[in-house]
Amino acid sequence: MSRIEHTQCDGSWLNLRWSDGAEQTLFATWLRDNAQTPDARNPANGQRLIDVSDVPEATAFQAASVAADGALDVTFAPDGYRSAYPAEWLRAFLGDAAQTPARTLWAASHTIVARTYDEATADPAALADWLRAVARDGIALLRGVPTESEAVFRVAGLFGYVRETNYGKLFDVRSVADPTNLAFTSQGLMVHTDNPYRNPVPGLQLLHCLQSDAEGGTSVFVDGFQAAARLKREAPDAFETLSSVWVPFRFRDGEADLQSRSPIICVDDGGAPTAIRYNNRSVAPLDPGEDVEAFYTAYRKFSDLLRDPAGEATIRLGPGDCIVFDNERVLHGRKAFKQASRWLQGCYADKDSLLSKLRILDAETNR
Ligand code: OGA
Ligand code: ZN
Repeated sequence: MSRIEHTQCDGSWLNLRWSDGAEQTLFATWLRDNAQTPDARNPANGQRLIDVSDVPEATAFQAASVAADGALDVTFAPDGYRSAYPAEWLRAFLGDAAQTPARTLWAASHTIVARTYDEATADPAALADWLRAVARDGIALLRGVPTESEAVFRVAGLFGYVRETNYGKLFDVRSVADPTNLAFTSQGLMVHTDNPYRNPVPGLQLLHCLQSDAEGGTSVFVDGFQAAARLKREAPDAFETLSSVWVPFRFRDGEADLQSRSPIICVDDGGAPTAIRYNNRSVAPLDPGEDVEAFYTAYRKFSDLLRDPAGEATIRLGPGDCIVFDNERVLHGRKAFKQASRWLQGCYADKDSLLSKLRILDAETNR
C-alpha cells in the first residue's frame, strides 16, 4: 500500500503527498471533527462522541508529521489537541472506495440472474452473489422456493425484514371479484413502480409465484435508470422536466387515503437518477397551474420509452419462482391472462438491509 511521504500545512489546510504520487488536501476542521481519539470516538463501537460545536471555530494546523507506523500525526491550533490518523483511513478518501456495488444498466437482452433457494440458504457465497445481482442489476430471480403460502417471507428473511403496509405483510396477487386495485384482476398492467403514493416508497418488491396455469400473464421488467439515461440523451428537456416537476400520487380505498408528491425521475446532486416513480394507475391530476404542456410532452416521451420492447426483459414466472427487484429502479408489469389459476404472493422490504447483508457476507468471505 502507498505511504504518506510528505506533509505540508498552512493555516487551515494540509497537503499530503503519497508515495505513488497522489496528492491530498485536507481541511483542519474536517480532520478535527473526524479525530480518531478515545474522547472523540467511542473505542468499542466507533461512534462519534463530539458534535461540531465542540470543535473550536478557529481550528487550524499547528504541526503535522508522519509517525513511525506510517500514520499521520496532527497537532491542532488553538488548543494543542492531537490525533493520529491511520494511512489507510486517509487513503480511502482519495479513491472511489465504493460502499455500494456498481450498477449495470440493461435492456431487453438482459438475462436475469437466477439462483436456487437451496443454494442461497446453504452457501453464503451464493447468497452474496445473488444479492449483488439485485444491487447491480436491480433484479434477480430465486428458483425452487417452496410453493407454500407465506414462503415469500423466507426469501425476505435471507437479507432483511418485511415492510408491512395497509395491504398487510403480504399481498395476494390474483384475480378477485370487486377489486380495489387493478392488480387484482386478470388485466395486463403497464410497467410501473409500486406505491409511489407512499413516503417512503417500498425499496424492494418480492413476487413469489405459487400457481401459473393461466394462459398469458408473462411478467415484463424494464430498467428505469436505463430508460432515464436514454431520455436524457434523446430529449434532455424532457429529462429536466420529469426530474424537476413534482407530481402528486394517490391511493384510496375504504381504509386508506395515501398521498405523496415526487418527481417521476428523482436525481442526486450530480444529476444521476436515484429513483423512478411511475404508475399510471395512481398518478393524480397535476396542478393545472404547472407547466402542463411541457410536462405532458416529457411524460409521453418517457412513457413511449418505457413501452419500447427494446428495453423489456420478459419472464414467465412458474411455481416456486420468486423475483426480487428494486422498486425505485426496475419497473414491472404483466401481460393479460385468461381467468384461471394465477397466484402470486408479494411483499415489500428495504434496500438498506439487503446492502448491509451483502457487506457483512463479503466481509466474512473476505471479498
Ligand atoms: C402488482 C403487480 C404483477 C403481476 O400487484 O402491483 O404489478 O405479475 N403485479 O401480477
Ligand atoms: Zn405492481
